[in-house]
Amino acid sequence: MSRHTTPEPETKPHLADRLDTWLDARTGVDSILHESLDEPIHGGASWAYVFGSGLLFLFMSQVITGVFLALYYVPSADHAHTVVSYIVKVVSAGSFIRSIHAYGSSGIIILLCLHIGQTVLYGSYKGKRELLWLSGCILMALMLCMAFTGYLLPWDEKAYFATAVGTNLVAEVPWIGPVLQKLVRGGDQMGTLTLSRFFVLHVFVLPGMLIAFIAGHVFFFRKAGAAGPIHEDPIAPKLPSVPFYPRQVLMDAAFAVVLIGLLALIAKTIPMDLGPAANPADTHFLPRPEWYYRPAFQWLKYLSGRWSLVGGILLPALLAVVFAAAPFLDRRLERRPWKRPISVGAFLLFLVAYTGLGIASYHDDYSDPGMAAQMYKQDADSKAFMESPFVPETAAGSIPAGLASADPNVVKGHVLFQAQSCSSCHGEAGIGTAAAGPLTGVGAKYTEDQLGALLHSPNPLMTAGGMQPVDLKTADLQALSAYLRQLH
Ligand code: HEC
Repeated sequence: MSRHTTPEPETKPHLADRLDTWLDARTGVDSILHESLDEPIHGGASWAYVFGSGLLFLFMSQVITGVFLALYYVPSADHAHTVVSYIVKVVSAGSFIRSIHAYGSSGIIILLCLHIGQTVLYGSYKGKRELLWLSGCILMALMLCMAFTGYLLPWDEKAYFATAVGTNLVAEVPWIGPVLQKLVRGGDQMGTLTLSRFFVLHVFVLPGMLIAFIAGHVFFFRKAGAAGPIHEDPIAPKLPSVPFYPRQVLMDAAFAVVLIGLLALIAKTIPMDLGPAANPADTHFLPRPEWYYRPAFQWLKYLSGRWSLVGGILLPALLAVVFAAAPFLDRRLERRPWKRPISVGAFLLFLVAYTGLGIASYHDDYSDPGMAAQMYKQDADSKAFMESPFVPETAAGSIPAGLASADPNVVKGHVLFQAQSCSSCHGEAGIGTAAAGPLTGVGAKYTEDQLGALLHSPNPLMTAGGMQPVDLKTADLQALSAYLRQLH
C-alpha cells in the first residue's frame, strides 16, 4: 500500500522488461507462460509423470535426427542402400545420428509402454478424459506406423524381407486385402514405388498427423488437468496443488537428460547395423521384425488357414477397439488399482502374453540349430558389411572396389561395359560365360586401336555368336578398350 503513497523515483524499465511488454501486447506470451508453467498439479510433482514429456522429447529428437538423415536419403530401390551406407561409413557422425534415430524409435516404444502402464495403473483415463485417451491411442497407432515405415528405408536384407512379410499380412484383410496390398506396395512387387510410398508416409504424412495429434493430446490434458495420485478424485481434485514449475519441470528435464545420455551411450558403443543390400532372390534369408513387433510375428506363426483371418486380423482389431474404448467401458471413478481387478488384470494379462510371445519368438529362432546358424550368418553378414569400405555408385551400377581409384578412362569404360550389357555374354568383369569366352587377356592380344576397330566391326566368329557392332563415339570406344585391356 505504501508504494502508492510515496512516489517512486523515475526509473527506466530494463530492456528485457520492455521487450517482454512489447511481445506480450502482440502475442499474449505472458499468459501462455503462466498457463503452461503454473498448471496446478494436485498431490505435487512426481517421477511417475515424466513419461509423457519424455515421449515428447524423444519425438523432437527423432525429428531433428530425421532431418539430418533426410539430407542424404534417396527413396529409390537403386540408391537407398548406397546412401544409407554412405551416411554410416563416410558422413562424419553419420552412424551416430542414424543410431540415435534407430534406437530412439525403440525408446519411444518403451516409453509408450511405461506411459500407458502408468495411465492404466493410476486410472488416469477416468473422469472426462475420454478424448485425452483416444488421442493417445491414435498417437500410439501413428508411432507404430512410423516404426514400420522407417524400418524399410535402409533397403538392406532385413528391411526388405521384414517389410515383405508385413505387407503380405495386409493381403489377409477380408475382401479388400489384395487391393490394399497393391496400394501399400505401389504394385505387385516391392520396389522403388514401395520405398517412395513408405518414405512419404514416414517423412511427411505421419509426422504431420503426429504433430496435430500431439497438440490435441496436450490440449485435452491441460483441459482435464493432471489426474494426480491414485486416491485423488479425477473430476473434483481435493489434494493441495503445486505448480508445474519448477519441481515437475525439473524432473521432466532431468529425465530428458537421462534419455538422451542413454541413447548417445548406446549409439556410440553399439552403432546400429546396416546389412548388405536387399537381394530379393535370396531364398535363405529369415525375415525378422524389430523386437517390439516380435510377439505379433510369433502369434502369426501359430495361426494357419482360416485362423489367420480370425487371429491375425479380427482378434487384434477387437483388442484395439476394446482398448480404445476403455474410458467408455470403465466408467466408475474408482482409481486404486487393487479395486479395479478387471481393467488392471486385463492389462497385465496382455503384457504377460505379449512378453511371453516375444520370448518364444527368440527361443524358436535359436533353439533350432539350422535356424540359429542362419540367424548367426545374417548377423555376421551385417558385421562384415559394416566393416567393408564404402563403395560408390556410378550411373550404371557399382564400381568394383579395386577400380574406384583407377584411371578415369577405365572407370568410364567399365560404366560403358555395363551399360552396353557386355556382361550378359562375357560375364561380370569379362570373366566369360557359356555364351562367350572371357575377355581377360585381350590386352595382350590387341592394341587399343585394334580393339576399337574390332568392336566397331566384329569378326565373323563374334557375329556368329550374336555380338553386335559397338556403335559408340571414338572417345567412348577408347574408354571401353582401355577398360577391356586392363582385365585379367
Ligand atoms: C550376344 C552375346 C555377346 C555380347 C552381348 C557381347 N559379345 Fe563380345 N563376343 C561374343 C562372342 C560369341 C565372341 C567371339 C568368341 C568368344 O570370345 O567367345 C565375342 C568376342 C569379343 C571380343 C574378342 C575377344 C577375343 O579374344 O578375340 C571382344 C573384345 C568383345 N567380344 C567385346 C565385347 C564388348 C566390349 C561387348 C559389349 C559392348 C560385347 N563383347 C558384347 C558375344 C557377345
